[in-house]
This record gives sequence, structure tokens and C-alpha cells, in this order.
Amino acid sequence: MARKVVLITGASSGVGLALCKRLLEEDNGLHLCLACRNMSKADAVRTALLASYPTAEVTTVQVDVSNLPSVFQASKELKQRFPRLDYVYLNAGIMPNPQLNIKALFSGLFSRKVIHMFSTAEGLLTQDDKVTADGLQEVFETNVFGHFILIEELEPLLCHSDSPSRLIWTSSRNAKKSNFSLEDFQHSKGQEPYSSSKYAIDLLSLALNRNFNQRGLYSSVLCPGTMLTNLTYGILPPFIWTLLMPFILLVWLFHQKPESLDPLAKYLSSTTGFGRNYVMTQKMDLDEDTAEKFYQKLLELEKHIRVTIHKTDDQS
Ligand SMILES: NC(=O)c1ccc[n+]([C@@H]2O[C@H](COP(=O)([O-])OP(=O)(O)OC[C@H]3O[C@@H](n4cnc5c(N)ncnc54)[C@H](OP(=O)(O)O)[C@@H]3O)[C@@H](O)[C@H]2O)c1
Repeated sequence: MARKVVLITGASSGVGLALCKRLLEEDNGLHLCLACRNMSKADAVRTALLASYPTAEVTTVQVDVSNLPSVFQASKELKQRFPRLDYVYLNAGIMPNPQLNIKALFSGLFSRKVIHMFSTAEGLLTQDDKVTADGLQEVFETNVFGHFILIEELEPLLCHSDSPSRLIWTSSRNAKKSNFSLEDFQHSKGQEPYSSSKYAIDLLSLALNRNFNQRGLYSSVLCPGTMLTNLTYGILPPFIWTLLMPFILLVWLFHQKPESLDPLAKYLSSTTGFGRNYVMTQKMDLDEDTAEKFYQKLLELEKHIRVTIHKTDDQS
């Protein structure tokens, strides 16, 4: 029987790296393809995984999701290598130069919202965003649009009439409707591009289910909980953080029948006061109409970007 192929973006550290280990613990016959921007990190991860799981197949592909020519190149290579992808974990993400809002922190500490504040970081963090070489906001392009183009390009590997393929997005509890607007979906004018991008992921996942389920592709979103990774170390120093939750959730989604998952639900990693881990289902604050409108806007932007990139290619 052919090995199941799992593509994971951002597999070089943090959530993505831990996910690779856990997936191979569950099934050491998988083929993991590590989609990373830094190939020396990817190769080091590949070597370490194969040392622990010698029966697995682990390959790498270079992709920088904040650079569309790189996404096109990676997609081309993947189409040459694989007839299908069974799971794609859209996990790579950034929160650049997060700044802690000390005033919001102190007022939150003494309010009834204290637990909510720490579990979602709502109102606590602002970030610096910039424009990429593709002319897009960096957080939007990295967290959302680069991945969207990857899926569009990989459609022949993902849409089948036999067994379904799965998209699994690393979203966040920090995804907030109030930080997202259809008029400024790249969040060029606001101060919370991370939250906006994660809300955009939730909307996109809903729209993808609507547009692709009949073609054998299912999408879900999850939040891994607060994890000690390079991303969180960018917010506060390591000694302040405590690890709230290991990786039960991403693996839990791996085992679910896609047809049984609710496209309006986000699957949250949670833990009891006694340290027992469990998966909590949360209804997302979304509506199908906005999701579809956002999806159409992404398709328009895709059309525009493809024309611009082809023009640049012709000139060079
Ligand atoms: N940590 C948390 O508490 C938390 C909570 C909720 C959601 N999340 C989400 O979890 C995901 C993983 O984050 P993390 O916490 O594991 O942080 P991390 O350790 O910084 O990992 C981020 C991963 O994304 C990769 N990446 C960043 N920009 C990229 C680009 N342009 N192209 C390709 N890969 C890129 C990084 O590659 P390099 O190694 O080359 O930098 C790295 O592998 C993110 O989507 C994040 O938003 C994290």
C-alpha cells in the first residue's frame, strides 16, 4: 500500500517540528515532506527524524510562503514528485516584533477578563508589519496568502474522487473578528495584523469547505494553545512562559474523519487544572457570506498577482 503523504509548512521549529515527531510516533510508515524556507534547518530536522524513525520516509522542499515565485517553484516540484497529498498542514506563521501593551496588561490583570486575556492575548499585543517584494503585507502573505496560492497550485494533488485530502490550518485563539475587515483584509492600516491574519484563515477554511468538499478536499482550523516556541519567545522571555499544552490536538485532527468535522468549529487544545489534555470545540464567530466574499477577494488578488508576476518574468 502507498504511504500516506503529509506536507507540513514551517516544519523546522516549534509547533511544526513537534507535530512531525508526534505524527511519526502515531504512524512511522508515513511520508513527511517538510516544506521549509531554510534548507539547512530542514535537512537537520530530516536527519534527526530519520534517526528516531528509520522506517519513515522524510523529504524536504524549499518554500518561502512570503515569496510567491518560491511558492510557485515549490508547487511545481511537488507536482512532479507526488501523485497526491493526503494531509497538508498549513502551519508556517509569523508575528513580527510583537509589542506588549503594558497598560492593557495591568488593567486586564485586575479585571474579570484576566483568563480570557491570557488565553487569547486579546488587546495585549501589537506588531510591526511591512510590505514584501510581492507588494503584499508580510503577515497576510506569510500566514494566509502564500498558503492559499500553495493550495490553489496543488489542487490536482488534493482533489480526488477516492479518499479525501485534508488541509489543517494552525490558526489561533487570537483570531478576532474585530481585527478583520473585508475592505482592508491585508490589515495594512491596523496594528494587529496577526489576529487579522488568523481570522482570515478561519474565514478561508470555511470558504474552502464550501467550494471544495464535493471535490474531495476538507479543511479545518485549530489552535495549538500557548506553546513555547520562537514565536512566543519573541513576546516574552522564556522564563516567564510555562508550557500549557503538548501536541495532542494536531494529532487528534489527523485521526478524525473529515466529513464528521464541523466547518464552523475551531479545535482548541486545552488542559484541566490537573494537567489532563483534551480537545475543546469552539464555534467560530464567522458567517458563510463573509467567508465567500473574502474567498472571492483572494481569487481576485491571485489573478492580479499572477499577471504582475508573469509580466516581471517576461521582462527579465
Ligand atoms: N506558539 C504559540 O503559542 C502559538 C499559538 C497559536 C498559534 N500558533 C501558530 O503556530 C504556527 C507555528 O508557530 P510556532 O509557534 O511554532 O513559531 P516558530 O517556532 O517561530 O515556527 C514558525 C515556523 O514557520 C516558519 N516560517 C516563518 N516564516 C516563513 C516563511 N516566510 N516561509 C516558510 N516558513 C516560514 C519558520 O521557519 P524558520 O525556522 O525558517 O524561521 C518556522 O518553521 C504559527 O502559524 C503560529 O501563528 C502558535
